[in-house]
Amino acid sequence: MSTATRVPGRAIGAPLDRIDGPQKVTGTAPYAYEHHVGYPLYLYPLQSDIVRGRVAQIDASAAEALPGVILVITHENAPRLADTSDKELAILQSDEVAFRGQYVGAVVAETFEIARHAAQIIKISYDEKAHDVALRADRDDLYTPDRVSGGFPTDTEEGDFDEAFSSAAVKLDETYATPMEHNNPMEPHTTVAVWEGGDLTLYESTQGPHRVKAKVAPIFGLDPSRVRVVAPYVGGGFGSKGLPHANTILAALAARKVEGRPVKFALTRQQMFSCVGYRTPTIQRIRLGADEDGRLTAISHEVVEQTAKIKEFAEQTAIATRMMYATGSRRTTHRLAALDVPVPSWMRAPGECPGMYALEAAMDEMAIKCNLDPVEFRIRNEPEIDALTGLPYSSRNLVACLREGARRFGWEDRDPIPCVWREGRWLVGTGVASATYPVGRQPGSRVRIRCEGDGRYAVEIGAADIGTGTWTALTQISADALDVGVEVIDLKIGDTNVPFASVAGNSSGITSWGSTIFEAARAFREQHGQDPSEGDEVEAGMPENPETDNYAMHAFGAYFVEARVDADTGEVRIPRMTGVFAVGNIINPKTARSQFIGGMTMGLGMALHEESLVDPRFGHVVNHDFAEYHIPTNADVGEMDIVWIEEEDPYVNPMGSKGIGEIGIVGSSAAIANAVYHASGIRVRDLPITPDKLVQ
Ligand code: MOS
Repeated sequence: MSTATRVPGRAIGAPLDRIDGPQKVTGTAPYAYEHHVGYPLYLYPLQSDIVRGRVAQIDASAAEALPGVILVITHENAPRLADTSDKELAILQSDEVAFRGQYVGAVVAETFEIARHAAQIIKISYDEKAHDVALRADRDDLYTPDRVSGGFPTDTEEGDFDEAFSSAAVKLDETYATPMEHNNPMEPHTTVAVWEGGDLTLYESTQGPHRVKAKVAPIFGLDPSRVRVVAPYVGGGFGSKGLPHANTILAALAARKVEGRPVKFALTRQQMFSCVGYRTPTIQRIRLGADEDGRLTAISHEVVEQTAKIKEFAEQTAIATRMMYATGSRRTTHRLAALDVPVPSWMRAPGECPGMYALEAAMDEMAIKCNLDPVEFRIRNEPEIDALTGLPYSSRNLVACLREGARRFGWEDRDPIPCVWREGRWLVGTGVASATYPVGRQPGSRVRIRCEGDGRYAVEIGAADIGTGTWTALTQISADALDVGVEVIDLKIGDTNVPFASVAGNSSGITSWGSTIFEAARAFREQHGQDPSEGDEVEAGMPENPETDNYAMHAFGAYFVEARVDADTGEVRIPRMTGVFAVGNIINPKTARSQFIGGMTMGLGMALHEESLVDPRFGHVVNHDFAEYHIPTNADVGEMDIVWIEEEDPYVNPMGSKGIGEIGIVGSSAAIANAVYHASGIRVRDLPITPDKLVQ
């Protein structure tokens, strides 16, 4: 740890090395599968290979006769669950099949290899019914959900959009599409389930140990005090581990049946493409109207997306369009197609990410129609207040990000005409887009602080570090809150045996947990003073922030991208990206920079590579592995220039910080798409921009 020169009270803002770095690089930080439990068994799932219908017959006799097979569990012998209201989690409770890949059983054996082999020789026959897995905007069965994710209204209407659009001097009406995408954290979804005397312990790869506990306890009819969830280290999540999925229930069900032996279940990479959620595909119609000066008079964003028949997931795709730019009139709508598909779920910036791709690509097209530079066009439509709430912003520095990015990137030399810059066989172009993400804040977190003697403090909160740097950032926050050095803080997270914490999602962790740490530290000093005795302890809950009634709180950013398109093959290379962010105070520049690099790299994957291709005849993702579902590797990523501007925001939380886990992906795919257009003159409106779409 590079703490030697740190001044007490100044831990926030220091580029502290990751506290968990040495354990991680030496392989001693236990991830879920690696926890030592006595005599574990290994689970391999049975997954439906029809899309819809019923399990007719299961012949497991050959599997059950294999040495080392302990249990074949199916709907015929599975324990009944106490609560089956969540249809994604209520597995093995009937013979019904609602999507391809749904769990219809599992083998539990002495080794993983035996379990996998046994699963392959089990014969399952089905009564198959017709199915429907294809999303189209012209379906006649699209429906209007009551609300969209986050509890937001499904549709909004400001002013008279129809009138303003029809009378606009400049108009755009285009449709953009984003595909199904799958989260692929390096650590797959994993559960180790241990039953002891009716108590359940789960070593789980999750973004929210307490959320898993709250969800799992009623399903097994347990008082929450009988469930413990342990997750000290988590190898990525991106939202897919924000809620428990059926794999957690499957492992716990099987372990209950073989009581006395723990059961380990880690998904294979291919299984990651079947039932741990995915980014719903979207079809987004954007209409923009502007006056002769390029001021927006009308914005409409109409979204069609899919959900599962067994459980509604209504992504808030048009949410950022409700506040991003000033306009005379505005309409946003969301419509869903309920299909025979797995349940969609969160994937880094659900809502903002796909929605801002469409809006920011449309803004680029509209700037050209208005004869304005796309940076100037955005600045011209900067709002004075937040249109969603009518409140002023606690801080909004989008314009500063656009200006600083343009300066760093060298934007002023840009020829507005597309397809005129050529270097050998490469067509070269540049593009820009804006970013935004709300300052997430979730209620309920609690923190316990205890003096351990020798000037040391235990700080306990059941938060999760999913690779973002939470171990380090919360240690820095604790040090400043208590006005001591980071070296005397013993942070404890990742376990439901320590106080409740909200989930690591919605970029809300640091605001929610950090505010609570500040509150607990204040209470601790008030009760025990500056020189406490060993054992002195305080527990406090997250304080209200009354400023949330007075200000709209969002982070902002801007990207500038250079794209090169091979004139013959359509290959796209991105040699450099600049990201400028206005996100309040940075807790740790080192881990923060990694968050921005990760978000922008994921945006690069979204723009150019990522697409889960479903075969409509069989309902499965065909390219379900890293050979065919490409995520960016080092060879795809060029120079990443990442900076943040000075932003003092006294209203957001005691740290003055805004969440940074998701903003890096929001709009970055649009900046790339806009640069590809500028390079090639071809406007691809359905992601990803693969070479076939550019070779015309
Ligand atoms: Mo994030 S998709 O809220 O984990």
